[in-house]
Amino acid sequence: MAKNQSLGKVPPHHCASNSDSAPKRSMKIAILKERRPHETRVAATPETVKKLRALGAEITIEAGAGTAAAYTDQAYSEAGANIVPDAAAAASAGDIIFKVQRPMSAGEGVDELGLLRQGQMLMAPLGALTNKDLVQALAGKGVTAFALELIPRITRAQSMDILSSQANLAGYKAVLLAADNFGRIFPQMMTPGGTLAPARAFIMGVGVAGLQAIATARRLGAIVTATDVRPATKEQVQSLGAKFVAVEDEEFKAAETAGGYAKQMSPEYQAKQAALVADHIRMQDIVVTTALIPGRKAPVLVSEDMVKTMKPGSVIVDMAVEQGGNCPLSEYGKVVEKYGVKIIGPANLPAEVPTDSSALFSRNLLNFITPMVDKETKSLKIDTNDEVVKGTLVTQNGQVVHPSLQVSS
Ligand code: NAI
Repeated sequence: MAKNQSLGKVPPHHCASNSDSAPKRSMKIAILKERRPHETRVAATPETVKKLRALGAEITIEAGAGTAAAYTDQAYSEAGANIVPDAAAAASAGDIIFKVQRPMSAGEGVDELGLLRQGQMLMAPLGALTNKDLVQALAGKGVTAFALELIPRITRAQSMDILSSQANLAGYKAVLLAADNFGRIFPQMMTPGGTLAPARAFIMGVGVAGLQAIATARRLGAIVTATDVRPATKEQVQSLGAKFVAVEDEEFKAAETAGGYAKQMSPEYQAKQAALVADHIRMQDIVVTTALIPGRKAPVLVSEDMVKTMKPGSVIVDMAVEQGGNCPLSEYGKVVEKYGVKIIGPANLPAEVPTDSSALFSRNLLNFITPMVDKETKSLKIDTNDEVVKGTLVTQNGQVVHPSLQVSS
């Protein structure tokens, strides 16, 4: 990527900046083109533009913001958005900015942060628990920022859950990538020339992505097994027609947090799990790893020794590569071949199906903002006592306000 890309000139902003103490806000929403490497998604589609307008919002879109996701400027324009030539003009026109990726800093080559101004709102995934400098910078600028990855996993917020909507598509695409890099086919095929045996696929980590990976591998005709440390997944795996493989001891029975996430397992459990996996993995053709523990480095599940035992031509897709990887041999954004095994470390799987991933992401954002809109005044009225607002609001009035980000003195 070109260093210090031009984002346009920030026009003087004449609108009075909204003070955070003011209960109501205008609804001028701006959508910027995403500039991080590998990103092709966009934070609004013509469909959500129409719906946001029906809520009373004025929408400004940077020209070309949706092109990589197959949403044209013309389609946005027909949906009622204003198209402006560059990022600076878009950011200047919006009191609320929607983004798919956290803003980049000048040090990263593009100064998106520099486009934001005091009193503006940012609604985007921020990776807030790990990107603390970014959160501080947003607070310092007086931006009111909502970190969408922190949307609580409660029933009411399911339609806003960007992690689920994107992980689901990523799980699907991971299996297609595996199939594409595999020198054999997935289904059993009986031909006059002889029978081809079905592929064996092993899915490690059965969250949202893992469940979709199981379903996709099954649809393609593979024999599927799966593992997880959360007991609740056993039934889910079986209901998708796959076989569950795990060390089901006392620790396993208590391995789920109240929030539904996996706990960090003890070294003893990990050793037992590794032995079981080592035994199973040598027989597999395809391994898709999705295991994550929130706020920590991803657990290593497929060691170098295990890779050595796999058949030549087997494929591993390490979906956790961005969080350090479930396999130490995987490399971010690359396909590497080690011991005859292809190991794929996809940089951004949802961005490989950008039309659908943008459609779902944009609807998640629409569903996130809708309850904040005062139906009568058609402006934003933010209730800081609301569980979803409280869960996602990270900066306000120049301060870092999220409880998980408070520096203990
Ligand atoms: P995730 O992306 O955080 O992790 C993926 C999977 O890896 C999880 O199933 C986890 O248990 C597993 N894992 C972690 N360490 C492992 C290890 N050492 N070995 C094997 N597997 C390991 O998970 P995701 O997709 O975010 O889902 C987490 C939970 O949240 C699930 O219970 C899911 O059903 C729940 N959920 C609830 C929602 C809601 O109520 N709105 C929406 C989406 C998910």
